[in-house]
Amino acid sequence: MCGIFAYTGDRRAAGILIDGLRVLEYRGYDSAGIYTAGSPLAVRAVGTVRNVAEKVGGRLIGTSGIAHTRWATHGGPSEKNAHPHTDCSKKIWMVHNGIIENYKELRTRLALHGHVFASETDSEVLVHLIEEHMRALGNDFEQAVRTSLKEVTGTYGLAFMHADNPGVVMTARMGSPIVIGIGKGEYFVASDPTPILHHTKDVVYLNDGEFAVISKEGYSISTLDNALIERIPSTIEWDIDDVKKGGFEHFMLKETIEEPEVILNAIRGRLVVDEGLARLGGLREVADQLADIKRLVIVGCGSAYYAGVVGKYMLEEYAGIPAEVEVGSELRYRKMLFDKETAVLAISQSGETADTLAAIKEAQRKGVMTLGIVNAVGSTIARETDAGVYNHAGPEMGVASTKAFLSQLCVLALLTLFLGRQRGMSAVMGKRIAEEMLLLPGKVEVILNAREKIRAIAHKYGHARDFLYIGRKYNAPIAYEGALKLKEVSYIHAEGYGAGEMKHGPLAMIDEAFPTLAIAPKDSVYEKMISNMEEIRARKGRVIALATEGDMNIKEHADDVIYMPKTLEMLSPVLSVVPLQLFAYYVAVMRGFNVDRPRNLAKSVTVE
Ligand code: M6R
Repeated sequence: MCGIFAYTGDRRAAGILIDGLRVLEYRGYDSAGIYTAGSPLAVRAVGTVRNVAEKVGGRLIGTSGIAHTRWATHGGPSEKNAHPHTDCSKKIWMVHNGIIENYKELRTRLALHGHVFASETDSEVLVHLIEEHMRALGNDFEQAVRTSLKEVTGTYGLAFMHADNPGVVMTARMGSPIVIGIGKGEYFVASDPTPILHHTKDVVYLNDGEFAVISKEGYSISTLDNALIERIPSTIEWDIDDVKKGGFEHFMLKETIEEPEVILNAIRGRLVVDEGLARLGGLREVADQLADIKRLVIVGCGSAYYAGVVGKYMLEEYAGIPAEVEVGSELRYRKMLFDKETAVLAISQSGETADTLAAIKEAQRKGVMTLGIVNAVGSTIARETDAGVYNHAGPEMGVASTKAFLSQLCVLALLTLFLGRQRGMSAVMGKRIAEEMLLLPGKVEVILNAREKIRAIAHKYGHARDFLYIGRKYNAPIAYEGALKLKEVSYIHAEGYGAGEMKHGPLAMIDEAFPTLAIAPKDSVYEKMISNMEEIRARKGRVIALATEGDMNIKEHADDVIYMPKTLEMLSPVLSVVPLQLFAYYVAVMRGFNVDRPRNLAKSVTVE
């Protein structure tokens, strides 16, 4: 949710921190702030990082510092609630991503000891707690931080500095990600690798319960009890260009346009077409175990959950594996009736979504095998699961998921092939799926090339107050996803429904002002979709159809048609979601919204 960034080295920290915050802004953009060594106070501002940059000007000269971009949880977006926070002595400075759950009792206790709080946040208790422990520990800052962290409950990714020890940054992690970037005579701390990419590709990831002390001379990682930990650095595989807009007005459009390449990256080296097989290196070690599983529980949130629903249909139809799909926030608190023949599959772009992660951990506690389909290499879910498959979609910077969702569908198709061929799927069927998958990039390209038409349709309907999205079978979850996309970037009320459900309630909403996007490719449920579209038109509802190229009949049942190339029914979501992403994008731009920074949202949901 929030993004934290810290630097220590020989260069002027302020510019580096501001640039880092700009990259991290997709994690939160209510307010931002920085503190650099030697400065008496932090600079904080409501709104975007640009507001902080303007306030900073050229006046901060310290060569180490910490910075934060906020997504408000406790306390509204305001300058006083913006990070970094400080204690009463104004010497301890801290940025925090997460939630301190026992902040109320700590705050009450500390207030009784005379601490004065400047903000309404949960985070601020921590700096006062450290100040309190420093008094008892003869001013030992490091020990006071360790002791304080043992007292808090909740989640945190933190960076601290003390004014009397400039050049030293401390960081700790519990539930919220922390990456340390290793430069030459300089180090970085961040919530994710994207801002570090500008400086180095060498990183180490902290695990929960770990603490690090960093200066320009080096870093050491330990437990809160000071047991040293050795960790071999890893290399970030992303490129710096991946986190730039590259001439596009918005990341959302750039990332949608990248989709043909994203498919190639997901399938590269993984399809053995002649044999109708998928080779998934990340599953090699658990392949025998997977051959024995009788049930798959898929868990994800938001778009990842909808991808999971498509995956369930693929896996059941082609691999014969009963699958269930659950949202992380529900599964984590439910009774999990799992046995040794169940596997749990987490789907997550960021690999940091708190609810998905919690569900995975709960499943592990029950002794169940866990798998991941994750985009961010080295992320927590990628590391916590027993095995998995990376998307290799590159960093997704737009808050609305586009290319990552599409990539998740492709990896689920690969997984279906992999598990299906372990079971009853014939080589002929496997080959058909593999051949069709190879054609997907070109077919997505065809849709992208028609985006002017999609833009025109978006402008025609974009003034509506409500939208309905309908689909059946593989495209029912794409209706949910299309509606989510429109909601999150254009703030229009949109509902996604399995088309057959219309007459059980939603049809009551339909009138001439309530348009419907109907996903109606020529597949096994085409005729049913046509009937549902007619039911809408009979109530004066306008219909925009997504149809298969060459389907002239559909024009009689829709007011406007967007065509897509033909593909296998199970792969049709990979094509049908693209026009819906573009439609949402163009409506939002037309309505003047910042599509990459939808209000109230943040990219990685690392709190509950
Ligand atoms: O990083 P994850 O894939 O775990 O994120 C899950 C959801 O938060 C995410 O898909 C969210 O729904 C997007 N904003 C949708 O566009």
